[in-house]
Amino acid sequence: MFNDEAQALRERYAQALKAHFGADGRRINHALKVLGFAERIMTGEGVAPEVQKIVVITALLHDVGIKAAEEKYQSSAGPYQELEGPPIVRAIMSSYGEPAPLIERVAYIVGGHHTPGKNDGLDFQIIWESDLLVNIEEDGLAADKAKLPAIIEKNFRTATGRAIAQAEYLR
Ligand SMILES: [Fe+2]
Repeated sequence: MFNDEAQALRERYAQALKAHFGADGRRINHALKVLGFAERIMTGEGVAPEVQKIVVITALLHDVGIKAAEEKYQSSAGPYQELEGPPIVRAIMSSYGEPAPLIERVAYIVGGHHTPGKNDGLDFQIIWESDLLVNIEEDGLAADKAKLPAIIEKNFRTATGRAIAQAEYLR
């Protein structure tokens, strides 16, 4: 399903991710894990190539605002990341000569990825689910078995994402 173009994008933006975060392996691994879940969901859902492109780039870059948020505000809170992420995304993507609509869509999702009310499409939803799949584990939510069914019910809309969440965390 993933064609040469998607493969090239994945390599290009994995490099950009590593250049951005440098020695911060935790952030790099987080984004790579998010991409892994996003690819499983996209395969299961059979999403269009245009959506794949957006999702691959967004998965890798979604948290690039964290570094600036921590430097400027001493906080990695969602609203600061959402503020700081999009200009960094635009700079990285412009340097690769990406078309403006693609840049703006990725910047929009990065700028809203902690705000459920901004979720307006399948690309955004796949990022939402993939980030949550990783965060359930990283934030220790996986240990709280009582709360997980409600979290999964509320947040997962794709059949594939829901099935992955149930298989990973409810068994
Ligand atoms: Fe994330």
